[in-house]
Amino acid sequence: MSPKILITGAAGGGSLVADFLAGDSTVVQKDQIIAAVRTKEQAKALSNIGINVLQVDLNDETAVIECVLQHEINLVIHNATSIDPMPALYLIKALGKRRDVTKGETYFVHTSGMSAFYESAGWNHGEVKDTDLVFDLEKQATGAFPVRKTNMAVVEHAKALSVNSFIVAPPLVYGRGTGAWNKLSTQLPSCISAGISQKIVHRFAGSATAKGVHISDLVAFYRLLLEGILQKQSLPSGELGYYFPLAHDLNWGEALAHVAVALNARGLVTDSKARIWASDEVAAQALHIPLTFLHILYNSSSKSIAENKYKLGWEPKWNKERFLQSMDDEVQAVIEANGARSSLLDSVYNSVAR
Ligand SMILES: NC(=O)c1ccc[n+]([C@@H]2O[C@H](COP(=O)([O-])OP(=O)(O)OC[C@H]3O[C@@H](n4cnc5c(N)ncnc54)[C@H](OP(=O)(O)O)[C@@H]3O)[C@@H](O)[C@H]2O)c1
Repeated sequence: MSPKILITGAAGGGSLVADFLAGDSTVVQKDQIIAAVRTKEQAKALSNIGINVLQVDLNDETAVIECVLQHEINLVIHNATSIDPMPALYLIKALGKRRDVTKGETYFVHTSGMSAFYESAGWNHGEVKDTDLVFDLEKQATGAFPVRKTNMAVVEHAKALSVNSFIVAPPLVYGRGTGAWNKLSTQLPSCISAGISQKIVHRFAGSATAKGVHISDLVAFYRLLLEGILQKQSLPSGELGYYFPLAHDLNWGEALAHVAVALNARGLVTDSKARIWASDEVAAQALHIPLTFLHILYNSSSKSIAENKYKLGWEPKWNKERFLQSMDDEVQAVIEANGARSSLLDSVYNSVAR
């Protein structure tokens, strides 16, 4: 029997669900997929496009365990939150119970974030490859950055319950998603929205270079990983199972210069050049982000190197030039969506409050 696969956060990162629905995988059939969403409205929107949907609050331990056992789920792709560890821990606990019942393998793919490896977030090991002993390095890193804390909790909990774990740490995600609900990511849309409401695009002084990936390439990465798992390929997992889906460098100054030109051409800002933020406080308010996360999300360089992508055969179709040239479409997507909205920001605020 084909194993059932639960994808959480399916209303946000719904592009993955849409990909399987479109039949882009020869290994994963659409009937195997169950999309987990939080609200009734999201469930309705997704079931309208012909996917199996479950409405579940991932912070409800009993509901999560019931959902995994009742629907005979052997593999979870967890896209809902990289910051709050509890949903991941409940899902892993449920997969452990499922393993006890079937005596078969279970798998947990955790969506983390590249921010775990930024100096600004307490990463004190400099350059890191996903083939390094990342888990051990995370344990030695300074500070208790929540994304790293969640990674470590996932790996440890999964190991204790004999669940195979994989940590996928995407960089900044851009582009229009193909999901049935939220089609936009967070960081770039927030900069575009702030530019439109202030009639000026702003950036930070200096020149941080992060990494980026187009949503379609990221979806292809997950598809390859999932296919590899189902085909029992020998893929690193557990303490060695870190994956960096990095497509290209993304220089913040360069990207925001293109945003300014695109918005100015539409008459939405008064200057075709980006100006420097007056202060961090002003920037945090305009981007709707707690001050402690401001530079992590909007002004950090990445020294990470992706090696495990070669094991999957991943070849991204988007590069830096294509990204910069597509800026007007990024702007159009934000205008069509009427601004940027993501529960990522809610969980960032919640983590500051905890
Ligand atoms: N976007 C990026 O550039 C980026 C980069 C690196 C890593 N990531 C990571 O990728 C993951 C997905 O990001 P995203 O941009 O797709 O976020 P998103 O648009 O906010 O999607 C997350 C989804 O998860 C749902 N969710 C959150 N908590 C839940 C709970 N307790 N129970 C049920 N559903 C819950 C949200 O529901 P609601 O719609 O009801 O809020 C939302 O639909 C996150 O872990 C994020 O940290 C994102």
